[in-house]
Amino acid sequence: CSSRECRRRVVAPAERGCDNGGAFFLCRPVMLETLTRVPPDPILGVSAAFQKDESPQKVDLGVGVYKDESGKTPIPRAVKRAEQEMLAAQITKTYLSPIGNPGFNAQVAALTFGSDLAGRKSDLSLAQAPGGSGALRLGAELLLAARPGASIHVSDPTWANHVPLLGNAGLRLQKYPYYDATRNALLFDQMLAALDALPAGEIVLLHACCHHTTGQDLDATQWAAVAEVVARRRLVPFMDMAYHGLGEDLDRDAASVRLMAKAVPEVLVAVSCSKNFGIYRERTGLLAVLSAGSEPASIISGHLGRLARTLWSMPPDHGAAIVDRVLSTPELRQDWMTELRHMSNRINSLRALLADRLSEATQRDFGWIKSQRGMFSRLPLTTEQVITAREALHIYMAPYGRINVAGVSPANVEHVATGLAAVMRG
Ligand code: LMR
Repeated sequence: CSSRECRRRVVAPAERGCDNGGAFFLCRPVMLETLTRVPPDPILGVSAAFQKDESPQKVDLGVGVYKDESGKTPIPRAVKRAEQEMLAAQITKTYLSPIGNPGFNAQVAALTFGSDLAGRKSDLSLAQAPGGSGALRLGAELLLAARPGASIHVSDPTWANHVPLLGNAGLRLQKYPYYDATRNALLFDQMLAALDALPAGEIVLLHACCHHTTGQDLDATQWAAVAEVVARRRLVPFMDMAYHGLGEDLDRDAASVRLMAKAVPEVLVAVSCSKNFGIYRERTGLLAVLSAGSEPASIISGHLGRLARTLWSMPPDHGAAIVDRVLSTPELRQDWMTELRHMSNRINSLRALLADRLSEATQRDFGWIKSQRGMFSRLPLTTEQVITAREALHIYMAPYGRINVAGVSPANVEHVATGLAAVMRG
């Protein structure tokens, strides 16, 4: 190539209409070279590093997936059966619509709000989305369509991906106090005071159950106080429900959403079916929006369809069809509920095992791990200690000491407890 800019020659088909002596040249890029390398994802990067580690001692307390007694992430029996039946019965894979599978939407809404849909069936707009993350993004886009430049207040700390997921949609993120990791304590009074100081119309992201990074949930009295402030200050609750059924049980885990549905006119709920149905990679979620009557609900449904069309056109059907079949077939539903209960009981017994062993090994009180719920707890570790645990002990966890309790087992608890005790002692 005669151009001083050019790196190398690629193709030369004169017939393609080249005006440079019949040759195309690959010259210096004009745009994409402005991109710089991104750091690994704070959570998925941990999984990638774990996969590469060849130590037989390695323990994965990183990404939030359930693990059974053998360390595997199982497909629930009812899901497997529903999938087989569904594939055998399916006669077409033609398009559904931007708001997805109506059977799935109705079933998951009933699971979330209760069979009477919190008495507000005609106020509901539903859209299936690619996982809980897709539902969060769709909700953010809806809120921005309603109010460009809106702010959302998230708990400090929150799920690492909330920040880019909601922020890249255009919502301005602010934080409210939630948890003090040095004292392993909920900052409830500070949280309530912060919410009580917000102007009307501000959006508040709330973790419906199994707080997605600390495992520290509000109790029923605290939820009632939050609902009172949200209603009185005319705030808009956006509830993230990613671990339904993995805390206490399906009804108690949904109590916060049902309470809010009775307390305020407008509520958004992003539901994930990844964890409770064990269908992580099928990307199955729902955005449910409660509004002040059937007329706004029908307008919102139109917006959800249009927004989904511009984001991903239509959500993937496979996982939603499975969930619809499980929830609408009494025998499968019962079996799924039994297995889900086993999962949550098992996580809670691992909490007890870890708390006791850590308390013994450190001579400090880790009893608070037992009262938290869902997959996560946040250990009081510095960033350096998290790195030391990984490099010296092959114990992998997310930044700031977030652990997936489901990754603990009777076989590894000794290594985890004594190892982390040594790391904490420095
Ligand atoms: C997690 O927090 O580990 C899970 O929700 C998986 C994810 O996508 O981050």
